[in-house]
Amino acid sequence: MSKKKMKLSMPSLKDARSRKFESTEVISYHLDGKFSHVGENKTYYVFTYGCQGNEADSEVISGILEGVGYKRSVDPYKADLVILNTCAIRENAENRIWGVLGNLKGVKRDNPELRIGICGCMPQEENATEKLLTSYPFVDLIFGTHNIQSLPRLLFEMYQKQSKVIEVLSTQGNILEDAPKHRESKHKAWVNIMFGCDEFCTYCIVPYTRGKERSRDKDEIIKEVEDLVAKGYKEVTLLGQNVNSYGNDKHDGYTFGDLLYDLDKTGIERIRYTTSHPKDLDEKTIQAMHDCKHVMPQLHLPVQSGDNEVLKKMNRKYTVEEYLAKVKRLKEMVPGISLTTDIIVGFPNETEEQFKHTLDLVNAVEFEGAYTFIYSPREGTPAARMEDSVPFEEKKERLERLNERVDYFYRKGNERFVGETVKVLVDSVSKNNPDNLCGYSEHLKLVHFPSHNLALIGTIVEVKITEAKTWFQMGELVSE
Ligand code: SAH
Ligand code: SF4
Ligand code: F3S
Repeated sequence: MSKKKMKLSMPSLKDARSRKFESTEVISYHLDGKFSHVGENKTYYVFTYGCQGNEADSEVISGILEGVGYKRSVDPYKADLVILNTCAIRENAENRIWGVLGNLKGVKRDNPELRIGICGCMPQEENATEKLLTSYPFVDLIFGTHNIQSLPRLLFEMYQKQSKVIEVLSTQGNILEDAPKHRESKHKAWVNIMFGCDEFCTYCIVPYTRGKERSRDKDEIIKEVEDLVAKGYKEVTLLGQNVNSYGNDKHDGYTFGDLLYDLDKTGIERIRYTTSHPKDLDEKTIQAMHDCKHVMPQLHLPVQSGDNEVLKKMNRKYTVEEYLAKVKRLKEMVPGISLTTDIIVGFPNETEEQFKHTLDLVNAVEFEGAYTFIYSPREGTPAARMEDSVPFEEKKERLERLNERVDYFYRKGNERFVGETVKVLVDSVSKNNPDNLCGYSEHLKLVHFPSHNLALIGTIVEVKITEAKTWFQMGELVSE
């Protein structure tokens, strides 16, 4: 390995917090003519792990690769370049990546021309990068979350020098506008409204891997959504780690609620957003959900725990009572709203009683879906240094009990629509039954219905719900 250009890794909590005072630059994508043919006659494949933010990044990576000549390979294991866009949120997320890398080692043995790149959140962690260098020497390219725009140059260097290229920036991040994108769907689009996170929940790696919170210019966002409407897109999902703090770094008084009102006028059929932070979800946003016809009656509002002491140790900055008050207001203003959440069990020293408070909260809110996780210590975060007396077996058992509760309300949330006609944006043919099409209703319920009419894909149709299962609904087409 001759090139090692590593400008980071994890900032300390103190360093990371002081970053708020660094300025954010908006950068345009610039492709140097020298690198513009680097992918000619070559194929690529991108594996994506983690959150929607990573999915959106992979669309940019694909767009950049295609812009320099690469063509997408149908078979990942036959591509000339494979990129793994990684996630570091929990240990098992990282273990999956180590597993895939193990498989790729064999593929590379058979095809030494294969080039393997790793990007996303894992390279932003010092220990993961060290492990990559020592245990996975066949990886050719390592870059981070802040330098996707440099990909053509990095690839050029990789081929020219026939050596490993590593470039992970510790910069807290700029905003990249105008980068080419290969969007995976022709009717649903991710729209980043901000990047990074300033919350520092004590268990979470994201503020370290993604940099400081920075909001895109509202006019750029509105323009992007208008362009999507012009191209025939039906739905946008606004992305950010805490969308409710959109605009806080700009100090011009324009907030997330204002953005919803403005986007409602663009002509897009459906607007969703994720992720909300209960601390910052404000009255204006709730009012906008009530007033704006195109903002969908569904909200993912991660609570993490139903116990005030645990919430405090997590640095979530709200209480159970405050959370419930916002839920009450949402249910008043958006009748029938479907609420989903994220919950962590087994936070360091979580007691049985504290866990029961989480079950109580699930019962009180009746979440219609939840992502549930066993706490996973992340090196460098404050919680990883906390003492923890709860055995892993007990954490697993808590997760099972929680999932049982969550599944009950998941099903109940599907049952409440039986006999009703709902609007479904059709995504595709159902994976397990070629006689069905499937898509999502306004309340974000997965709906399957019999039809062979592929022309319906990408359109909104009316479906009468006939049956509810835990994870989906069955229905019949009412209109075409
Ligand atoms: N910004 C979003 C999502 C962050 S990551 C939010 O604040 O909700 C998605 C979820 O992963 C989190 O909501 C949390 O429930 C979970 N998570 C994050 N770090 C974790 C960790 N160290 N162990 C277990 N779950 C974690
Ligand atoms: Fe992580 Fe908290 Fe930021 Fe979400 S809000 S990304 S959980 S630090
Ligand atoms: Fe994972 Fe990074 Fe997203 S850690 S959840 S890919 S921000």
